[in-house]
Amino acid sequence: MNTFIVTGGNRGLGFEIARHLAEDPGARVVLAVRSMDRGQDAARRIGSNVEAMELDLASRDSVDSFIENWDGPIAGLVNNAGVQFADATHFTDDGIEETFAVNHLNALRLTLGLENALQGGRVMFIGSGTHNPRHPTAAPFGFRGEQYESIRNCAEGLDSSDKMGQLGKDRYATTKFLNMVTTVELARRYDANRILFICLDPGLMPGTDLARTVPGFLKFGWYYVLPIIARVLPDSSTPERSGEAGAKLLTEDRASLHPGGIYTYECKLSERVIDRVFDPEIGRRVLDHSMAMLRSG
Ligand SMILES: NC(=O)c1ccc[n+]([C@@H]2O[C@H](COP(=O)([O-])OP(=O)(O)OC[C@H]3O[C@@H](n4cnc5c(N)ncnc54)[C@H](OP(=O)(O)O)[C@@H]3O)[C@@H](O)[C@H]2O)c1
Repeated sequence: MNTFIVTGGNRGLGFEIARHLAEDPGARVVLAVRSMDRGQDAARRIGSNVEAMELDLASRDSVDSFIENWDGPIAGLVNNAGVQFADATHFTDDGIEETFAVNHLNALRLTLGLENALQGGRVMFIGSGTHNPRHPTAAPFGFRGEQYESIRNCAEGLDSSDKMGQLGKDRYATTKFLNMVTTVELARRYDANRILFICLDPGLMPGTDLARTVPGFLKFGWYYVLPIIARVLPDSSTPERSGEAGAKLLTEDRASLHPGGIYTYECKLSERVIDRVFDPEIGRRVLDHSMAMLRSG
C-alpha cells in the first residue's frame, strides 16, 4: 500500500489531489489538516482509504508532534497548504509572519522531519506564477513578483512600508518563489532515487478559498466572475484539473520525471519560471538560512 500525505487536503487543490490519489484502492491518503472536523468531513466525502490527521502549519509544535506521531513509509508528501492575507499582518505564536511560516518554513520543517519515512518517495511543493513579475495572468492582478532579499526579512513580513493589499500579494508571491527555489535546491542535494523533489505550478484556479480575506467586491469577482473569464486566460486551470495533474506526477513512472522540475497542470516543465529560481547561490542561501532558522527554535 502506498501512503500519501496531502497538507491542507480538506479543500481546494489539496482536496482534488487527494481525491485523485484515492481513486487507486491500493493507496492510503492522509489529509494533514488544521481542523479535524473539516478534515474528517473531507475524508468521508472522498472514500474509505482516506483519513485525517491534525497538522497546523502555523505552529512549530504542531508540526513536531505530527512528525513524532508519524509511523511508516511515505510514497508522497504534498506540501499543498497555503495562505494569502489581504486583511492584515498575522504573526504566528512562534513570532513569524504567517504567510512565510505556513507556505514555506514549516512545510520545510515537515519535509525534513519526515525524511526517514520518505526514502524512495516523492515530495511535491506547490508553486505559483505570481512569483514572476511578468506573468501574463498574475501581473494584471497587481502581483509584482517575488521580493526575496533574505530569509530573515521574509520571516519579519518583508518589512516594507507598502499598503497591506500590496504587501499581502508580495508576501504570497515571495513564499511561492521560496517553494520553487526549495524544490530545486533539495533536488540538488538529494539523490532522486532516495527522495524525488518536484513542484506543481497549478495555474490560476479562481474560486478556491485562497482569496478568503480580500474585500467583498473582489471576493465576488474571485468566486463568481473569474472562474468564467479564466477559461480564456493563459495559465489558468481549475482545482479538479490541476489536482489530477498533481496526482499523476506523484504516481507516474519516476524515471520520466525531472528532479527539481517545476511542472504545469499539463504535466509539462513550466516555461514561465524566472531564472532566479534556478540560481544555485540563491538556492544555497534560502535552504541554509531556512534550516538555520528551524534549528534556532
Ligand atoms: N488558487 C489559486 O489560484 C492558486 C494558484 C497557484 C497556487 N496555488 C496554491 O495552491 C495551494 C492550495 O491553495 P487553494 O487555492 O486550494 O486554497 P484554499 O482553498 O484556501 O486551500 C488552502 C488549504 O490550506 C489549508 N491551510 C491553511 N493554513 C493552514 C495551516 N496553518 N495548517 C494547515 N493547513 C492550512 C486550508 O485549511 P482550512 O480549510 O482549515 O482553511 C486549506 O485546506 C496553495 O499552496 C496555493 O498557494 C493556488
